[in-house]
Amino acid sequence: MLLTEKKYVEWHENDTSHLARWLSASDHPAPRRIVIVDDKTTADEAYRLACAGTSMLYRGDFHNARQLLQAITRRIERTENNSAKRKSRKAANKAKNSTESDSKTLPNLFHQQRQMTAQRSRILSRLLLELDANYVSSLRRAPDMSNACLAAFGPLDKENQSCVLSFRDLQGALGAAGWREKGVVIKALGLSIYPHYGVFAPTRHEYVPLLLDAPLPKAFDVAYDIGTGTGLLAIILAKRGIKQIIATDVNPRALTCAQDNFERQGLAHIQLQQADLFPTDAPLANLIVCNPPWLPAKPTSPLEYSVYDANSAMLKGFLQGTKSHLAQQGEIWLILSDLAEHLQLRSRDELLGWIADAGLTVKYRLDTQPKHGRSQDKSDPLYTARSSEITSLWCLQSV
Ligand SMILES: C[S@@+](CC[C@H](N)C(=O)[O-])C[C@H]1O[C@@H](n2cnc3c(N)ncnc32)[C@H](O)[C@@H]1O
Repeated sequence: MLLTEKKYVEWHENDTSHLARWLSASDHPAPRRIVIVDDKTTADEAYRLACAGTSMLYRGDFHNARQLLQAITRRIERTENNSAKRKSRKAANKAKNSTESDSKTLPNLFHQQRQMTAQRSRILSRLLLELDANYVSSLRRAPDMSNACLAAFGPLDKENQSCVLSFRDLQGALGAAGWREKGVVIKALGLSIYPHYGVFAPTRHEYVPLLLDAPLPKAFDVAYDIGTGTGLLAIILAKRGIKQIIATDVNPRALTCAQDNFERQGLAHIQLQQADLFPTDAPLANLIVCNPPWLPAKPTSPLEYSVYDANSAMLKGFLQGTKSHLAQQGEIWLILSDLAEHLQLRSRDELLGWIADAGLTVKYRLDTQPKHGRSQDKSDPLYTARSSEITSLWCLQSV
């Protein structure tokens, strides 16, 4: 049997050695140190073990396991409040008051916050559970989770091979199944979009009215939606009367999800291609839309590829490639927030430079201000940046 550390996990229980498939949504390596815990394990004990890098395989009652995870979360929050958050606030004050270190402090705060989130995720991921080959849990009072797991992780390829995953990843799969069932209401469009597991969910969609308001180019026979995700932008274009739309994404889950949403809207004629940026064998486009990941930073897990764009590679690649795919007098609608600018991760001049280097010019820009929860949270160390954020539709054209 070929065993790779990433895919299998081993532990000792009742003097027997056990082996199971290892599943991790964040590509965390399989845990090496596993102890068995149950309903008698206290939250303090579990928190201490998790912080020390020991993973805990839960045997007992499902709801107790969930409560244990909540109790660990509260302990992490307490620690964060007592240490890291205080540091962040200090740095935030420094950023407000100082002039000379501004350029260093905000990016530092942002990276500190990401590190804190990653550390929290590592600790919380140490509470594990075992599911059988059909994703059934033997924990008392465990709900039926098989469909949610099947949608998230696919079928287990080995007969009778159980799997081990973190309780946190299981909650992610259950949450995604909930979104997929109830959908995200897009008020401005009067419809719901149904995100799948691992696909960018447009819970924040303040840019939709911009895409409805922007005047269509003179000719609008063919459009591309680059990085389609759930298919939301392609659906908007179809509703605006564009006949041939080709949507691409690198993520195969996005293509299945977009297809599902197109069919739900009676728009199954929208074409889909798995591609890095632009479609192949497609006619030149009158309109190319793209809502790339907004923050130039390295994704640390597959689920982050929709939010973070290392070195702005996708954004720059998109801008560089548009000209050779655009029909005469065609337009590009780039959806981008300026949060990266407020966090000093990218400057406006840099963005304008990339646009100019790609042989493009700005025809007009439509702006909106997001009103989501985090932009109103004054206790967030990044509040000044988040509360100033503007989301724009940049209409670009060839020089
Ligand atoms: C911020 S999400 C936007 C999704 C959707 N267009 C929306 O507005 O809801 C960015 C999408 O771009 C996709 N993506 C990232 N890099 C890509 C690339 N090089 N080529 C194609 N798609 C890419 C991601 O998989 C993700 O679905």
